[in-house]
Amino acid sequence: MRTGVWLVGARGSVATTSIVGALALRAGLTDPTGCVTELPDLRGPALPAFTDLVLGGHDVATVPLAKRAEALAAAGVLPGRLVAALPEELAAVERELRAAPTAGTQADRAAATVRDLTDFRGRHELDRVVVVNVSATEPVARPHPAHADPDTLRAALAGPEEVLPPSSLYAYAAVLAGCPYVDFTPSTGLRLPALATLAAQRGIPYAGHDGKTGETLVKSVLAPMFAMRHLAVRSWSGVNLLGGGDGATLADPAANAAKVESKQRVLGETLGYLPQGGTRIEYVEELGDFKTAWDLVTFAGFLGTGMRMEFTWHGCDSALAAPLVLDLARLVAAAHAAGHTGPLHDLAFFFKDPLGASTHSLADQWTRLCGFARRLHAGGADAPRG
Ligand SMILES: NC(=O)c1ccc[n+]([C@@H]2O[C@H](COP(=O)([O-])OP(=O)(O)OC[C@H]3O[C@@H](n4cnc5c(N)ncnc54)[C@H](O)[C@@H]3O)[C@@H](O)[C@H]2O)c1
Repeated sequence: MRTGVWLVGARGSVATTSIVGALALRAGLTDPTGCVTELPDLRGPALPAFTDLVLGGHDVATVPLAKRAEALAAAGVLPGRLVAALPEELAAVERELRAAPTAGTQADRAAATVRDLTDFRGRHELDRVVVVNVSATEPVARPHPAHADPDTLRAALAGPEEVLPPSSLYAYAAVLAGCPYVDFTPSTGLRLPALATLAAQRGIPYAGHDGKTGETLVKSVLAPMFAMRHLAVRSWSGVNLLGGGDGATLADPAANAAKVESKQRVLGETLGYLPQGGTRIEYVEELGDFKTAWDLVTFAGFLGTGMRMEFTWHGCDSALAAPLVLDLARLVAAAHAAGHTGPLHDLAFFFKDPLGASTHSLADQWTRLCGFARRLHAGGADAPRG
């Protein structure tokens, strides 16, 4: 199953690491550590192989992909030997990167994006293209009356106003081009009624939001433990220190608010109440793509005895995120092939803020994901069509 992976934000750290990783896996130069779709519970014939993946994408930046890869290697995010071993492969992906459309109305830009996607699909004779948003986090979107239904939206996009935030304009174009969509960021993306209706009408599956790679991943394991032992969490405070492009974006209070909201949801929804405290994100340029998170949890046990736990997470964000980007592209491609439409709730395992989540517990999400993969491999038995 020849599958295109179209990365929005293709020259960013997560995208570049995903591209180098996919090329290295395809060439047999590395093993799939971190790719959950290679675990025995998920592996199987429904998923496109790494050798079936063809990469492309949009970015507003113009820095050559090879330069971005070299910079990440110099920062210790990925091995320099892989970048040195894959010059032609990286040059081939470079030829598939397009400037983010900026001219004309939003309808014009959506049409240009659709053209880039359909040309890519045609040029490489792909069965399908999965669009994955890994671009910079946006501020929370302003509501607009045209977000309510597809017809009003179509009319409004042809006017001079900026009706959709960029992530949603890409999601709109993906749906129009018949491409499944994954949002690895906390941005709005497909989370608007008009876009959800359009995706349902066009039979498009989608997944999101905000990849769960570090502190929130640990929280989604620990919070159910406190809940299951009936311990009362009094406070849960975290400080995240990070550099890199994502850190610089999150230094903006509006983008920071979107991310913090996404990070806290797991606690309220797992515990059934919101303990005191919050998550603070601070930009420290020196840390580059490496993030440190400190969390302090205070809780009460039997007879009100107060206790506490602390943990420190030192993660390389892009190395944690990139294998999940490849996993999601493979799973969502298989879901599309099996006829799934609409939000893929069974992929909640991957996200901080999963669409329509019924559970934030990593263990429960894992069970659902394994069931989903089993059904895909058995021939899409639970698929609504095809
Ligand atoms: N790394 C992780 O562990 C992790 C986890 C969850 C979510 N995320 C999210 O993934 C995203 C990418 O993170 P990163 O570290 O690669 O950031 P980055 O800043 O390195 O990359 C973002 C890229 O998006 C591009 N971009 C910005 N606006 C664009 C637009 N309108 N169209 C096309 N491209 C655009 C930028 O030029 C840049 O190349 C962020 O939103 C981040 O919050 C990352």
